[in-house]
Amino acid sequence: MVVCTILAIFSFFSSAMAANKERTFLMVKPDGVQRGLVGKIIKRFENKGFKLVAMKFTWPSEELLKQHYKDLEGRPFFPGLVKYMSSGPVVPMVWEGLNVVKTGRFMLGETNPKDSNPGTLRGDYCVQVGRNIIHGSDSVDSANKEIDLWFKKDELISWQPATSAWIYED
Ligand code: RTP
Ligand code: MG
Repeated sequence: MVVCTILAIFSFFSSAMAANKERTFLMVKPDGVQRGLVGKIIKRFENKGFKLVAMKFTWPSEELLKQHYKDLEGRPFFPGLVKYMSSGPVVPMVWEGLNVVKTGRFMLGETNPKDSNPGTLRGDYCVQVGRNIIHGSDSVDSANKEIDLWFKKDELISWQPATSAWIYED
């Protein structure tokens, strides 16, 4: 009985901690970089309380972008999307926190900026769907695949922000 209770408490805390460690893949697109929005975009996620786990500045190949957007391969806008995304440097990042995938998508806004609310990144900083400044994973599963595609394991930094205890109760 005592052992069961201890195991139940342990399992409750370890699942709560695992939830806090959800990860998403975000990427400032070439238009976001060219327009000098990198700092503003990163600040939104820092202000929210999410934790930066990995980041790089890179000019991606068409091959990598075709792989990244593989699900959209048959869509009429796919060639234009690959051309746009490979037209300059981007800032791929991994962010961690409770519900970061879903909340991250809320913070981005809708795919088309005309449908994005003010206060979201796409609502505040862009106007056309083909120049919508930032990518965000649409599910935990996609996030894991995208993180594996863009980062090596040793590029993901394990660290404890000094503010953790003021952002999470456990
Ligand atoms: P993302 O993957 O870049 O975060 O965007 P998303 O989930 O909001 O939208 P998704 O359907 O995955 O589309 C990927 C990107 O393709 C471009 N797009 N253009 N011309 C069009 O109708 C059209 N539709 C999508 C956008 O850049 C979109 O973010
Ligand atoms: Mg998408």
